[in-house]
Amino acid sequence: MDEQTARHWDEMYRARERQWSGRPNPHLVDVVGALPPGSALDLGCGEGGDAVWLARQGWRVTAVDVSATALERSAAAVTAAGVASLVDFQRHDLARTFPAGRFDLVSAQFLQSPLDFPRAQVLRAAVRAVAPGGRLLVVEHGAVPPWGAAEHRHVRFPTPQETLAELDLDPDGWHVERLDAPQRQATGPNGEAGTLIDHLVLVRRR
Ligand SMILES: C[S@@+](CC[C@H](N)C(=O)[O-])C[C@H]1O[C@@H](n2cnc3c(N)ncnc32)[C@H](O)[C@@H]1O
Repeated sequence: MDEQTARHWDEMYRARERQWSGRPNPHLVDVVGALPPGSALDLGCGEGGDAVWLARQGWRVTAVDVSATALERSAAAVTAAGVASLVDFQRHDLARTFPAGRFDLVSAQFLQSPLDFPRAQVLRAAVRAVAPGGRLLVVEHGAVPPWGAAEHRHVRFPTPQETLAELDLDPDGWHVERLDAPQRQATGPNGEAGTLIDHLVLVRRR
């Protein structure tokens, strides 16, 4: 566990009673809502909105985060939702350790960090964790939100095509199901309406 990484994210979470909405990520719902439940790995689970939703759909979830605070909040959320028996929480600094096992779904939702983060290494470990017939779903910010700080506006995020290349998939072993940059309407912290651009990669192991 890198203490600086853990401290950064713990402080981010502790700065507010609740950091995220508690709702599941919309592209996860969109993609996974149509799939039969199985085993899922949620990388960087945050406060557990996705883990709760997945478990409510009948998925058995392994939910991972580096932040103990995030994991405590996630545990409270699955207990409140009555689905705690379906969720196994594990604390990992994914730069150093990765959960064991293979999963029907590996989900990385906004697993993005302002700190040093070996993104390609973690994404390739995510690829290895997909069971035969299973899927990897990576959703990331494609642009800074319109209400983002001016000093962040120059940030350029990897395109879906660049992320796909980083996965380094054997083309015979994988099928690319989605590779796009969907837009969605959202509301900023001060109630301002805006359009968000996400980058989405969905691949299925044959
Ligand atoms: C932007 S948040 C997204 C949280 C959640 N997936 C969501 O969509 O609401 C990124 C999450 O990744 C976690 N994270 C960042 N670096 C990590 C690392 N090295 N290992 C494990 N988790 C990490 C953070 O603690 C945080 O909860």
